[in-house]
Amino acid sequence: MRLSVSPPRPPIPGTDLERPHCDELGKLDHSGLVSWLRETDPRRLERLFAAADDLRRARVGDSVELRGLIEISNHCVRRCAYCGLRAPNHAVQRYRLNDDEIVATAKLAADLGFGTVVLQSGEDPGLTSGRLAKLVQRLRVETALALTLSLGERSEAELEVLREAGADRYLLRFETSNPELYARIHPPLGPGLPDRFDLLEALRRLGYEVGSGVMVGIPGQTWGDLACDLERFRELELDMIGVGPFIAHPDTPLGRVSETGPEQVPADEEVTYRVLALSRLLRPDANLPVTTALAISGGEDARGLGLQRGGNVLMPNLTPAEVRAHYEIYPDKASEPIPVGAAHQELMRLLSSIGRYAGSGPGTSPSYRVRMEREEVS
Ligand code: 5AD
Repeated sequence: MRLSVSPPRPPIPGTDLERPHCDELGKLDHSGLVSWLRETDPRRLERLFAAADDLRRARVGDSVELRGLIEISNHCVRRCAYCGLRAPNHAVQRYRLNDDEIVATAKLAADLGFGTVVLQSGEDPGLTSGRLAKLVQRLRVETALALTLSLGERSEAELEVLREAGADRYLLRFETSNPELYARIHPPLGPGLPDRFDLLEALRRLGYEVGSGVMVGIPGQTWGDLACDLERFRELELDMIGVGPFIAHPDTPLGRVSETGPEQVPADEEVTYRVLALSRLLRPDANLPVTTALAISGGEDARGLGLQRGGNVLMPNLTPAEVRAHYEIYPDKASEPIPVGAAHQELMRLLSSIGRYAGSGPGTSPSYRVRMEREEVS
């Protein structure tokens, strides 16, 4: 099967996947994906990573888009088996930032030259869509930042209100495409509510730039499941794809199980790099962050390696120091320094050491721009 790239474009000389050494990468059907995911031969993997890096350069360039992450509330009504913020975890001290704190943090992102802020939270009914819409409008007026929301599952009506208020993008990972595994790790709030795939469809209809993604190595996740996840990235024509290794949190049900066996995907950075590279091959025009979970599990080289294996986005955490330790989705989540002063310099040094530079402006994905142009024409 050929890679589907929409709309069809002529091959870019020197980067097209048909160049001789990439022949088999052009045939990424399910079994091809499974073999690449399971590949451990370093020379073959180098070829995979080089093909992803070439395609990244050709399609989204050498700039690295910086998104300032603001974790605005850690209240959550869900009982996800993997996440430290789950409602039954009474060890968590809950917080909710007020609008002034959020706007001040967003202005810090703008001062650092970031083009986007990502407002993230647990599923918090205390963050009503009315309040969020006012916040979005205020950020629109007081900053020139692009606004990404990552606030969990919300009704289509709420998503519409937020879009109309001025939100540009929405992130909602589907976590795994295996419905049985998903039901086990993500108990539904009630019967008949839209699932994440319905919501991703709704986000697209509403004109959001749509991001999703999965965890790698969820206990019970097989190689076949992960290949299906990648196929979903392609089918959903995602504009942004975030993937990170599952990290066991001791205060959650999945923090206490260990699954082994030949079909279990290990939750490690090596597999995550392969998923990242394959995501680039399947969605050449998407924005692909090197996630914090990958950076934590892969150690100090992980950000640079991720950026050279398909990634083109970083999401430095700007959550105010007083609360960030409480946003512990998984252990060590808060360990990343706030990227001001020396930490910002360090980030810039990392980028220039691999021949890259920080993007300026909103950093919209070419995938979204092309889709919007197509819709305007039709
Ligand atoms: N390990 C890794 N990633 C996690 N997430 C939540 N819990 C964990 C964990 N234990 C990811 C989910 C979620 C995103 C915000 O964080 O994919 O969508």
